[in-house]
Amino acid sequence: MNRRKFIQSTGSIALSSLVFPHLSFAEQDEWITAFNQNLKIKPWLIGWQGVNQEVLQTGKLEVEGKIPQDLNGYFYRNGPTQNEAYGKRYHHWFDGDGMVQKFHIANGSISHFGKIIDTYKYMVEKQQQKRLLQTFGTYLPRRISNADQLNVANISLLPLNERLFALWEGGSAYEINPKTLKTIGVKSWSSQTKGLPFGAHYRQDQDGSIWNIGYASLNDAIVLWHIDGHGRLKQFKIIPIKNVPMVHDFMITKKYLVLLLPPFRFNKTKFMNKHSFLDAHYFDENQSTIVWLIDKNTLNIQKTFELPAQFVFHFTNAYEQSSEVIFESMRYHDSGIFNVLSEIMRGKEKKFTGVYPYRVRLNLEKNTATEEKLSNVYNEFPSINTNEIGLTHTQVVSLQQRNDLFFNSVAISNYQTGKSQYFSYAEQLAEEHLLIKDSRGNNWIVGTTLDYMEKCTKVNIFNANLLNDGPVAVAKLPYILPLGLHGKFINT
Ligand SMILES: [Fe+2]
Repeated sequence: MNRRKFIQSTGSIALSSLVFPHLSFAEQDEWITAFNQNLKIKPWLIGWQGVNQEVLQTGKLEVEGKIPQDLNGYFYRNGPTQNEAYGKRYHHWFDGDGMVQKFHIANGSISHFGKIIDTYKYMVEKQQQKRLLQTFGTYLPRRISNADQLNVANISLLPLNERLFALWEGGSAYEINPKTLKTIGVKSWSSQTKGLPFGAHYRQDQDGSIWNIGYASLNDAIVLWHIDGHGRLKQFKIIPIKNVPMVHDFMITKKYLVLLLPPFRFNKTKFMNKHSFLDAHYFDENQSTIVWLIDKNTLNIQKTFELPAQFVFHFTNAYEQSSEVIFESMRYHDSGIFNVLSEIMRGKEKKFTGVYPYRVRLNLEKNTATEEKLSNVYNEFPSINTNEIGLTHTQVVSLQQRNDLFFNSVAISNYQTGKSQYFSYAEQLAEEHLLIKDSRGNNWIVGTTLDYMEKCTKVNIFNANLLNDGPVAVAKLPYILPLGLHGKFINT
């Protein structure tokens, strides 16, 4: 695709034709009524209630146990909040406006500061005290001129060279002041790439540079990015593709970018006809999942492979081993998880087919792709040591679902010893946990949970070698944070 033509079309996205005479929200918001009724009998739903404060802040938190002395830094998390505002409730967990949480761990103490991101969308709706713009899973008719007007910056964070960016996946990164969390504005990596989608799951290479992807569904393209450790654009490429698949995450190895294209694809015509972005996607179980191996030097697709139909939000890692590229993923049988995460917004539980860790071997000589299921337990939100990204990894931390509710356990699998451990939080909902090293190189697991019986969010710290023993420290917030998505830890 011609780059100039693509960028021009992105700058005036064809959504301008999307003006319809009536809202999809009913006058009486049935989703609020349903959610509140269900919340009375299902206390765990409080994680999806959302908060409407713009700022949440505490002094030093009450800590049970002892925070390790050598573990100092900022634990940032991002996620949707404002799930319900101006008399309307969103129809999907991924819709709410982004809020950044900052936990400062210093000299054995911990404090919390959270702030909403002042995106264009958030500010314009706040000014008019009305939901105006459609989101990932909730349709609203509204004329817009570019995707960043819908950008809620609510998925993850990129700390880079003492700067901090909040990431979505349909638009630009939003720069945030890492100390005050004040919103600085939309980030353009160059004048040529203004407005191109910069995804949520970048991978930081061993040289400190950042690889990323973005899927531009309205413009029939996937974008590849390479940014150096100082935030300067090194390379980018636009790959044309019809009915763009939803590509939330990807991987790197020493030589390649590895992208999985699930048969969960975008139907532009449906989108133009009063459907949310999510509802404009279709899953075709008769189509293969395509794997692209992309040369890091040229950004050309070097090889393609096929796997059975599946959907993946998150990959653990990829690496090269003799004539193979090997990767691990948290694999869903289909796209049913999206319905689960929609129904939960009105308090309804819906079963899905599960999410399991898989290992895939791409044989570059035989051009074959084989996959192997690693566990029969539901696993999600994988994390490895950052110094192993793109290389053979030794330990994987993940959330596990060991009840009928939601992820309520954290696990670690060690590939060197072959041992795995887990800790169950019982009546707490677990959010992403990270495997991090302290200043002496010791491994710790850090993650948040929502204690829906005590009605508070907690920060939990485990010795990664002794996960079974339970947390060495638990810090309790005096309030609930809405369940969020991804975070990063910056050592200080
Ligand atoms: Fe994600």
